[in-house]
Amino acid sequence: MALKKRKTWAGSETVEHTTVEHTEDDDGTPMVVVHTKEELKRRWIASRRFLFPLGIFLGTLLGFVLVSPATSNIEFPAQLSMFLQQYDIQKFQIPGLDWTRIEAEWNNFKIPELWKLNNDGREYQVGEAMKERGLTAKHPVILVPGVISTGLESWSTSPEYRNFFREKVWGGFHMISQVTFNRERWMAGLMLDPETGLDPPDVKVRAAQGIDAASSFIQGYWIWSKVIENLAVVNYDPNNMFLAAYDWRLSFWNLEERDGYFSVLKSRIEEMRGRMGKKVVLVAHSMGSTVLKWVESPEHGRGGPSWVENHIEAFVSAAGTHLGVPKAMTAFLSGEMKDTVELHPAGAYVLERFFSRKERAKLFRSWAGSASMWIKGGSSIWGNFTHAPDDHANFTHTHGRFISFRDSSSTESDPGVRNMTVDEASTWILQHTPTTFQKMMAANFSFEIERDEAVLEKNNVVPSKWSNPLESRLPYAPSMKIYCAYGHGKETERSYWYARGEYEYDDSQADSPNAQCFNGTDCDTPRTPLDLPLARKNWIDAEVSDDTCQPRVRNGVQMGEGDGTVSLLSLGAMCVEGWKRKRWNPAGIKITTVELPHRPSPSIPRGGANTSDHVDVLGSTGLNELILKVATGVGDEIEDTFVSDIREYAARMHWD
Ligand SMILES: *[C@@H]1O[C@H](CO)[C@@H](O)[C@H](O)[C@H]1NC(C)=O
Ligand SMILES: *[C@@H]1O[C@H](CO)[C@@H](O)[C@H](O)[C@H]1NC(C)=O
Ligand SMILES: *[C@@H]1O[C@H](CO)[C@@H](O)[C@H](O)[C@H]1NC(C)=O
Ligand SMILES: *[C@@H]1O[C@H](CO)[C@@H](O)[C@H](O)[C@H]1NC(C)=O
Ligand SMILES: *[C@@H]1O[C@H](CO)[C@@H](O)[C@H](O)[C@H]1NC(C)=O
Ligand SMILES: *[C@@H]1O[C@H](CO)[C@@H](O)[C@H](O)[C@H]1NC(C)=O
Repeated sequence: MALKKRKTWAGSETVEHTTVEHTEDDDGTPMVVVHTKEELKRRWIASRRFLFPLGIFLGTLLGFVLVSPATSNIEFPAQLSMFLQQYDIQKFQIPGLDWTRIEAEWNNFKIPELWKLNNDGREYQVGEAMKERGLTAKHPVILVPGVISTGLESWSTSPEYRNFFREKVWGGFHMISQVTFNRERWMAGLMLDPETGLDPPDVKVRAAQGIDAASSFIQGYWIWSKVIENLAVVNYDPNNMFLAAYDWRLSFWNLEERDGYFSVLKSRIEEMRGRMGKKVVLVAHSMGSTVLKWVESPEHGRGGPSWVENHIEAFVSAAGTHLGVPKAMTAFLSGEMKDTVELHPAGAYVLERFFSRKERAKLFRSWAGSASMWIKGGSSIWGNFTHAPDDHANFTHTHGRFISFRDSSSTESDPGVRNMTVDEASTWILQHTPTTFQKMMAANFSFEIERDEAVLEKNNVVPSKWSNPLESRLPYAPSMKIYCAYGHGKETERSYWYARGEYEYDDSQADSPNAQCFNGTDCDTPRTPLDLPLARKNWIDAEVSDDTCQPRVRNGVQMGEGDGTVSLLSLGAMCVEGWKRKRWNPAGIKITTVELPHRPSPSIPRGGANTSDHVDVLGSTGLNELILKVATGVGDEIEDTFVSDIREYAARMHWD
């Protein structure tokens, strides 16, 4: 392969702000809802767009206190009330949040109870209901976070990093002050060496440990907190519950090589199994769903053939990114960071707010771990030139063409401009990444589909195959149970319109607040002045927008089904079809699929009890119930529950 190093790491933003919303009523009938300004404002405040800036703003203030307590004492209340006025906050009641108390505490120079922002009146409820039924902790529980969720700490002792020593450089309040005051250094510290995929010289960043490492990203933005609260009600505590934090920037290979992550996890499982005399329940979110294969693998886990059978009771894959994430592909191609990192919106906010796209792209590219989101299975899963499994009868354009170009004029002179299936797009995108990235991909990841049982058997000792469930088999554990639980009903990026040009594309034009924005207030986060236009040849064709056609196109992005971040096909197809085959599931492990409909409540921050958003689902009643049932030993009660047509879609895929 002659692959040239090209600088095409940049991208366009998809701006998605309109006052006309197409939605569905309870029967699934499409409705058009035109929102008034006031209504939009309220909704905006309720949404994470508001909560992040809020959390982060408060975080920054707190950062200032910790940095220089003497001066900020005076500044604080003034800044706070300005902020409150700016966002008209008094009018909006977050349940459980007492602003007068926060202000009072602020004035008294006490750290306010920011975590109250987490509360929306349904804390511990699922746990209480289970306790009422007489259920109590049975199996030890291990929680495995997804990408971006775990906090990272600096352990470098070299002089220029001493100020950061043992502080969180990812997650938490300190990140904000570091990003604000020490941006260059912060970025250099978090970036990995593109050759080795490890820390650059003199830098040492390690995953934070313990339950705090991923219970909240930043005060006011919970991740695992709700699950932990509910588990605690039925007698879970650090003795029988463990959060397996990891440095999500690393490739799985390096995670074992540098941190011994999988070996440690395996020992921990053995220890819990031995001490409590009960098999362990593994609960993984998002990208964490890959962990099972790595823990059992003979190379790294060295567990032997019946290790999983003897140690793991059940594996819960919550919103698992089994077959990749379409929107990650645009990040690899055109540096579209925001949407990808929306696997974790708080992280996205920080990166968006403080870094140029070029910087973000550089950072993202250096994180080998992100490549596990690369789309898997090619056209067999995601569709060919004319059909995709999740196309509807009335679609005017197939999702099978993963990347489309409107303009076919330059086809001859520029072979890059053609409509592409996932297979073609995957190759094409890889060619547009730097050589170091390509090498890393070739050595550590694999995205094909393997149908030959003999090869699958051999892949048991090929680590690069283990993050792809289509090229590796589930462990031989006949009595283990697998639960796939994920949300459905939030519009999710599925395929794209791209544009291509030989000339520099002016970023500043694309990002300027345009007519569609709600008076500019709801627009994209401001650019830093350093964000100069980049030379780039491919970008999402934001001019393609059509809300009336099927599939709906928004600013160049064709929407499909899913949980807002991960496509339904990736979330569910392995669970309902792939793993029903002996080839990928030799022991015939029982797979139960629970789809959670997305019914967010607009008045509750982050959607409340019935949301199924990719991250927020960790706080939903449905998922918490499922986790508690499995942990307390009544997992048998859980039955397949579907709200989507995933079984039909999966049946249309080419598995054989
Ligand atoms: C990729 O895998 C190889 C082993 O096959 C390993 O030596 C190398 O460090 C890995 N690279 C990254 C970035 O993980
Ligand atoms: C594309 O997929 C559809 C449905 O699976 C199939 O009928 C069709 O023959 C395929 N087209 C090509 C060119 O392979
Ligand atoms: C046709 O399009 C509508 C939306 O316009 C959609 O709700 C419906 O499910 C589609 N029908 C079929 C059969 O795909
Ligand atoms: C891609 O497909 C669209 C829609 O079918 C078509 O209008 C366009 O000309 C195609 N582009 C190329 C480069 O063939
Ligand atoms: C918001 O936009 C509307 C229509 O574009 C305009 O009439 C109104 O004055 C704007 N409001 C503000 C506060 O700019
Ligand atoms: C969530 O859904 C359940 C059942 O569908 C309903 O009883 C409950 O009131 C809903 N909760 C919220 C906060 O919307």
